[in-house]
Amino acid sequence: MLTATTWSHLGDVADAIARRGPPLPPPAVPHSQRPQKQRNRPIRRFELVLDELEAAAAALEGSDDGGGGGGGVDGFRLSDGGDIARGGCSTNPLECAAARRSPIVRLQWCHSHGDALPACVGADRDRVVRVPRPIDPISALPASRFHRKRQQLANMVAIISLAAPFLHGGPATWPRGPTTPPLIVDFCSGAGHLGLLLAVCFPQCRVIVADWNVRSLELAEERRRKARLTNVEVLRCDIHRFSRVFDLGVALHACGDLTDRAISHCLACNASYVVCPCCVGKLHAGTGAGAAAAGAEAGVAGALECSGVGPMPFPRSHKMASILDVKQFEVLAAAADFNAHSGGGQGGEEGEGARRSLVAQETEMETERDAVLRKRRRRCKWWMEIDRSVRAEEAGWRASLYRMCPLSASPKNDILVARKVRV
Ligand SMILES: C[S@@+](CC[C@H](N)C(=O)[O-])C[C@H]1O[C@@H](n2cnc3c(N)ncnc32)[C@H](O)[C@@H]1O
Repeated sequence: MLTATTWSHLGDVADAIARRGPPLPPPAVPHSQRPQKQRNRPIRRFELVLDELEAAAAALEGSDDGGGGGGGVDGFRLSDGGDIARGGCSTNPLECAAARRSPIVRLQWCHSHGDALPACVGADRDRVVRVPRPIDPISALPASRFHRKRQQLANMVAIISLAAPFLHGGPATWPRGPTTPPLIVDFCSGAGHLGLLLAVCFPQCRVIVADWNVRSLELAEERRRKARLTNVEVLRCDIHRFSRVFDLGVALHACGDLTDRAISHCLACNASYVVCPCCVGKLHAGTGAGAAAAGAEAGVAGALECSGVGPMPFPRSHKMASILDVKQFEVLAAAADFNAHSGGGQGGEEGEGARRSLVAQETEMETERDAVLRKRRRRCKWWMEIDRSVRAEEAGWRASLYRMCPLSASPKNDILVARKVRV
């Protein structure tokens, strides 16, 4: 358990962050061309915050040591395996066919544009689905973005096909009986990149593509029509008010607590889910403090479920809520957010700061200091995703964590899976 002194200091740091906004303002000129004085000041402040967070994360690991050596980390172990609790993750099915028993769905784009995924032994067992041009991101996104969107989709579809075998298992495997085909909901679907693809890959399923942005949905509907898909419903709805019963929830880059809303709908519906969160820095007291405090007052370890309107409680898991209060969680969330600390603006899946940092990594131009900061950010983000996954485990789901392949597919490349175990 963390000492009161550490946490009261972290509380001060959180207050400081709240008062002055994101610690690193977006640089007006490239990092390397900025005068020394201007460059160092905000970074020093940022390091101060991260040093505290690093100490906190280390204390988390060292806490609750029951003699097993793993201490607090063991307390966060997911049923999917020890690697996950120690900062690793499950093997991405696109990277290694040998590590899995069942085949997956691999996508074949209409024009490859050099974005073939890494060759992998055993992949010849997999089912290859040819993507119709109207739902290929190449037809909806600029050249600077479609390539990585394709990579993100290939990862999501592969992991979904592995995590939800009932999608291609035939009526005997359908969760709600052989007369009810599985229903998939793509939350915060935007133009329907993921949902429309799933409708092609799993034609026996029905898919709802749900978002509240009219323009995005018009585009989704146009793409659905052009691809002649008859198993898709394009639905305008605020995620807070979604009320259908379904079997699998998916969400690709649903910002901040929208990912948690999607997960909550899945838990409420006994559905499995595969989500790739983004913008964790948006998780703050305004989205969760009220309900968490109410839960604590009522003697419950956090009022942890909330699938509709009302504040979303953070931390998400009882386990994490027994260690961190909302303010401490906010500090973790702020440090975990890629855009806030890498010089980019807030929000969006492809923040400029995050993109610059990825390019630096890929081209080996990253400075030692940037690498340290990136690793710290990564560690904080990992704890956020562990918290979400432990929440699902506490509710009786089997959770796993994956990362996209290649990692440069997106700065927000964690994929969370939770399978509803049916008895
Ligand atoms: C970063 S985009 C992701 C879009 C899409 N999943 C993709 O990967 O291209 C987030 C989406 O969330 C939608 N959104 C934001 N708030 C929402 C809400 N309250 N209910 C439903 N959708 C919402 C936005 O309209 C936007 O399309």
